[in-house]
Amino acid sequence: MTEAVLRTERLCKHFGGLAAVNEVSLEFFSDQVHAVIGPNGAGKTTLTSLLSGDLRCSSGCIYLDGKDIAGLSADRISQRGVGRSYQKTNIFLPFTVFENCRIAAQSRLPSSMRFIRPALAYREVMREAERALEQVGLAGRGQEPAATLSHGEQRQLEIAMTLATRPRVLLLDEPLAGMGSEDSARMVELLQQLKPSHAMLLVEHDMDAVFALADRLTVMVDGRVLESGTPEAIRASAAVQEAYLGVEEPQ
Ligand SMILES: Nc1ncnc2c1ncn2[C@@H]1O[C@H](COP(=O)(O)OP(=O)(O)O)[C@@H](O)[C@H]1O
Ligand SMILES: [Mg+2]
Repeated sequence: MTEAVLRTERLCKHFGGLAAVNEVSLEFFSDQVHAVIGPNGAGKTTLTSLLSGDLRCSSGCIYLDGKDIAGLSADRISQRGVGRSYQKTNIFLPFTVFENCRIAAQSRLPSSMRFIRPALAYREVMREAERALEQVGLAGRGQEPAATLSHGEQRQLEIAMTLATRPRVLLLDEPLAGMGSEDSARMVELLQQLKPSHAMLLVEHDMDAVFALADRLTVMVDGRVLESGTPEAIRASAAVQEAYLGVEEPQ
């Protein structure tokens, strides 16, 4: 078996007395979707924030390509190829679709590129932004204010902004949240296309999407991993049935 691109070892995050992420050890492989499911408050978003560097862990390790990245800033982690989309949108609505994407692409530039060769760097940034919009099917909408996009299209733009940083690892926190069935199907198709070139963490409540995409599935409850395995094994697990699957999530 090939080595995991991203791996956590006994990762913990405490908020005061609350262990939001508790001794979590997981692996993420290239060209695979690792879905993390669990009820509200299970620690899924906190886990995502630890992996992206938006939050600092209380203890444990995070290895990217075998190197511990647990102390690095979110910018550093992004520059090393980990891209994140947020549960709550990160889009700046008055700016155009293209501008949102361009700003995201710019954030990935090494600082030397930002100052030494601005013209060259700028062209590169423009290309990345265009490429990312094409990838998600929004190439024709670049000059529109982001506010004019539908909810589903805004979620696609969110993915494009993540792709503009050319990540190898994609951390997606509920990319289907609030979508109708048509938009959901389009997003699942997009994630399917992205799978062969990324290691993906997919936090998602839509079980049809999860089972359509996941190669590996982890169930979190109260900050802990309840179970982790193939989608078939998880579907068959009595403990998971009891704790989560089949129980409707209150919205
Ligand atoms: N910044 C924070 N400060 C204090 N508690 C937090 C913070 N972020 C999350 N929590 C708590 O941590 C637990 C896990 O939250 P979260 O990771 O958002 O869960 P999920 O994404 O699975 O719904 C919850 O009990 C939540 O209230
Ligand atoms: Mg969450």
